Amino acid sequence: MMTIKEYVAQRKGEIKELLLPLKVKPKLAIVQVNEDTGSNAYVRGKLKDAGELGVDAELIKLPIDTAQEALLQVIDSLNNDDSIDGFIVQMPLPKHIDEELIKLSVAPEKDVDGFHPLSKLNPCTPQGIINYLHSEGIVLQGKNALVMGRSNIVGKPMAKLLLKENCNVTIVHSKTTPEDMHRYVANADIIVIAIGKMHYLDETYEYKKDAVIVDVGISRDETGLHGDAVPNLPVRLQTPVPGGVGLLTRLALYENLLKIYNSRSH
Ligand code: GUN
Repeated sequence: MMTIKEYVAQRKGEIKELLLPLKVKPKLAIVQVNEDTGSNAYVRGKLKDAGELGVDAELIKLPIDTAQEALLQVIDSLNNDDSIDGFIVQMPLPKHIDEELIKLSVAPEKDVDGFHPLSKLNPCTPQGIINYLHSEGIVLQGKNALVMGRSNIVGKPMAKLLLKENCNVTIVHSKTTPEDMHRYVANADIIVIAIGKMHYLDETYEYKKDAVIVDVGISRDETGLHGDAVPNLPVRLQTPVPGGVGLLTRLALYENLLKIYNSRSH
């Protein structure tokens, strides 16, 4: 078994080697229109990864009061800029901007986030989780997978990917009764929790002893970052926070960028 940090470091080393001989490096642009602390941390991490991997990355940070029309123009120019292999628009966006419209305005062939319905790529967090579970040799076929949370970025695409892996997939959410929640958790082989409630999964729940818990939560308090699950639950494998899914998401972003780069002629 490898920790997520070790797994990510190893794969980043491989990507770096692959990129070393290339004359034209893959180029990523990140558009950020928020002052969200979570987004700032992610964007910083993504730029640091780019430096380590030898990917060209450009941050386009726009003021929080940027008009939707102005953002659409920036996206249009990135769609038409041949020097850019792919780009992402960091979520969340300010309330006056329609997120769904923005996702649809990114050209599918440049959509590193896999948010566009016509994109051939998958969203980074779910894809990064699947890649990691595969690397750990965790069998998914025929297993009971429980997805807690139904967001467009994590819950829904996660359920879709687990279904593709032939899991029996259940999605629970804020309207699931506490009794059902306990029943589903007790029956789950794979639990992906992305509800944004610090330490929601705790010792009051019963777990299969060989269950796998993938913790997508990040809540911050005076003592630091915390996941949606209490650390060290009595299961086979539980991903830590910090040092867990965030790293997998960042890695998957570059895996997606490479796929786009390799599909283009340079
Ligand atoms: N905000 C939280 N996760 C993500 C992500 O994977 N992509 C983008 N663009 N924004 C996010």
